[in-house]
Amino acid sequence: MGKLLDRQALRLATSSSEAGILDGRLVAAEVRRQVQLVVSRLRGLGHSVRLSVVRVGDDPASAIYVRHKQRDCAAVGIASEEVHLPDDATFERVLDTLASLNDRDDVDGVLLQLPLPAHIDPQRAISSIAAAKDVDGFHPDNLGQLMAWASAVEPATPRGVMTLLRAYDVELSGLDAVVIGRSMIVGRPMAQMLTRANATVTVCHRHTTGLEHYVRRAGLVVAATGVSGLVPGDWIREGAVVVDVGISRGQDGKLRGDVDFADARSRARLITPVPGGVGPMTRASLLENTVVAAARRRGISLRHDAHV
Ligand code: GUN
Repeated sequence: MGKLLDRQALRLATSSSEAGILDGRLVAAEVRRQVQLVVSRLRGLGHSVRLSVVRVGDDPASAIYVRHKQRDCAAVGIASEEVHLPDDATFERVLDTLASLNDRDDVDGVLLQLPLPAHIDPQRAISSIAAAKDVDGFHPDNLGQLMAWASAVEPATPRGVMTLLRAYDVELSGLDAVVIGRSMIVGRPMAQMLTRANATVTVCHRHTTGLEHYVRRAGLVVAATGVSGLVPGDWIREGAVVVDVGISRGQDGKLRGDVDFADARSRARLITPVPGGVGPMTRASLLENTVVAAARRRGISLRHDAHV
């Protein structure tokens, strides 16, 4: 895999007293540029790329996320559509919807937006998506491939984190990494990917006693809980790399991460901002997964394409 970004393009900090910024907007723009090249190449071979997003119910945040996904697709030439089902849609109706998207030859990627209404079992619904079209990487076959370190499609957020760390040449081999949060979407796949990159990974979660102890010794902290300010800046080891996946809105209306950014920045070597760190990378990774799924389905190798 080639270098994602020209070193000159990265705004690495020159000051030794403040961490450099892991600029997700910058790196995501480069990922999108490369996805766009693949979309053009596939189009040249007579294939358009299409993502279908299924949203059930009226969760307001989900509606916004889906709109962003569709906008991102349009920006790189991927066609997209949203199938919106009512809050009281039966499980059978959700399965039928997914089955019809599985069967459509013009659909390359199928994504079931989470969370789902309480009466829909998410794991059973996700399992009914064709593994080859599962661009979230949540299907058991794809999660199994991840465990085997053999996956083509990886959950978008941890994939985005890995791309960001690679873009800034963060050496992971031998690093003590702490992942805070053990969700299927972030924490668990993140731990797998870091382990694969030869980091020594500790997964902390709501039942961990003495979180501070683990954070203080970590060379890499990936925080993914959505609990604003969970990690005070003075827990961060001097020179550590901090990746903040958490995002929540404070009482003042401002978006904040899990880590106290201002204090952590004075100790860390590199840190993601919130917003503008992991969020853009997640969105860009979904686009990568979609073109990878499209190419694989058509039997087209992307091995020589720069990044995906
Ligand atoms: N809801 C929040 N994050 C995600 C995601 O990565 N995929 C899906 N399908 N739903 C989500």
